[in-house]
Amino acid sequence: MSTRRIVLIVVAALVVAGGGVFAWIALGPGAMDFAGGHRIALQAYQGAPPTGVPADFASADPVARGKYLTQAADCQACHTAKGGTPFAGGLAFNLPFGTIWSPNITPDRETGIGGWSDAQFLAALREGKGPKGHLYPAMPYASYTWMTDADGLAIRAYLATLAPVRKQPIPNSFAWPFNQRGLMAIWGKLFNPGRRFEPNTDRSPAWNRGAYLAEALAHCGECHTPRNLMQAVDNRRKYAGAVAAGWRAFNITADKDTGVGEWSDAELAQYLSQGHAAGRGAAAGPMGEAVNLSLRYLTPSDIAALVTYVRSVPAISTPDQPRPKAGLAPAGHRLASADAAAPLGKKIFEGTCIGCHAWTGQGALSGLATLNGTRAVNDPTATNVAQVVISGAPRSAADGQSMPAFGHAYSDAEIAAVANYVTARFGAKPSNVTPKQVAALRKAS
Ligand code: HEC
Ligand code: HEC
Ligand code: HEC
Repeated sequence: MSTRRIVLIVVAALVVAGGGVFAWIALGPGAMDFAGGHRIALQAYQGAPPTGVPADFASADPVARGKYLTQAADCQACHTAKGGTPFAGGLAFNLPFGTIWSPNITPDRETGIGGWSDAQFLAALREGKGPKGHLYPAMPYASYTWMTDADGLAIRAYLATLAPVRKQPIPNSFAWPFNQRGLMAIWGKLFNPGRRFEPNTDRSPAWNRGAYLAEALAHCGECHTPRNLMQAVDNRRKYAGAVAAGWRAFNITADKDTGVGEWSDAELAQYLSQGHAAGRGAAAGPMGEAVNLSLRYLTPSDIAALVTYVRSVPAISTPDQPRPKAGLAPAGHRLASADAAAPLGKKIFEGTCIGCHAWTGQGALSGLATLNGTRAVNDPTATNVAQVVISGAPRSAADGQSMPAFGHAYSDAEIAAVANYVTARFGAKPSNVTPKQVAALRKAS
């Protein structure tokens, strides 16, 4: 074990055990709140309830309602191995101190959760208390904690209708002290708000519905909010952007230059429901998955509510993200600055990418493939550009066009070069991704 790793482990153990108190004082109450203002108990709320299913589903059968909520909470994304049976677990989460695998949540009595009581299910879902010990916060119980009993049990009822899959959980590979699940009880005490959603009567019904969807179900903040040293989301910088599974989950606050302040409501709604918005780009990677497995099933009224809520989150400027460059790149193949920045990248772009993306960056076959003006192409780390080249971009609901994966076709050096060429030619600032960074990105996703 390298010295660096031992130091990391000791420091983290001290932080977890002793420093927690300081962390709580510094980051605790307040930091956990998702919405300021006057709150009331759910029972006292007037008007359409912000929890549960939308009106369109009110008379649907319980299984359909449970399915809607399960999709909104996107349990499938994490509880399915790559290419595996949905909900049977086995997806790897690579953390600095080891790997954790998601468990099987199909109703198999031995290897899944078929034998659990409702109370055990709710405790795991919202408090991170499993029968085998406390759960690591890779399971987002600090978000699901806002969920009502009724919605948690509706999800349980839907999961109970799935075909049971026999699949033993894979034990995690954490070294001491991280394999001590008891530490997670301390984490939960410090960082899990441990409360249910309470509507805010100073806000509209749409805002309250959006807040419930975003915070209790769709857990946008688990990817878009930066984390503190203890891996808890720091809600004082809500939605200011973070890294999720090796992808950059960008700033989605109302900041005009570095967030989504200049997106129209229609653009936001289209992006969330279809995974693409004209001129704003594609949702690939973890966001593509969130759209494909979860957000595209939301009703238009729920998407509109999400937009209302996301818009209300205070603007935070993140100067590492420049304002996206407007307009197309020159039509010819020459652009001195980009050519000099990445000659190998130019060769690859010319050989492989040009047919779909054109020298101007305006999609050659489909408007969806337009590179200009998107956040990924204007991000000077080029993280998501490299990731899109590695793993492709999903079909876009709008016209079914998608981008193939090139991760197997190209070496780390080639991917770094083409990513640097793309940002230099189409973005606000050239990137300087190294082959080593590309290798790390491959591992993280
Ligand atoms: C962001 C990823 C993620 C999402 C989303 C997610 N889970 Fe999990 N879940 C995990 C991981 C990882 C674990 C294992 C944690 C551990 O071993 O400490 C887990 C553990 C669990 C457990 C405990 C199972 C056991 O055998 O101990 C249950 C139950 C569970 N999740 C249910 C759900 C439900 C229901 C949803 C949707 C409402 C959901 N999860 C969404 C990642 C996720
Ligand atoms: C599993 C992680 C994850 C979750 C959950 C998630 N996002 Fe994202 N989001 C991302 C990533 C990664 C990107 C960048 C995608 C890309 O560049 O292709 C992104 C991109 C976006 C963008 C585009 C930003 C830009 O400037 O291009 C918006 C808007 C957005 N997400 C909103 C949301 C909302 C609202 C939610 C909750 C309803 C949400 N996201 C949930 C990871 C996530
Ligand atoms: C077969 C056509 C095709 C090829 C070849 C192709 N792309 Fe794409 N690319 C697309 C489409 C279509 C999208 C949008 C996908 C969506 O909307 O989900 C896209 C999206 C992208 C994005 C994301 C833009 C954003 O929204 O932020 C980047 C970056 C990108 N491509 C770079 C490349 C590079 C670099 C190459 C060459 C190595 C390449 N593409 C080759 C079709 C292609």
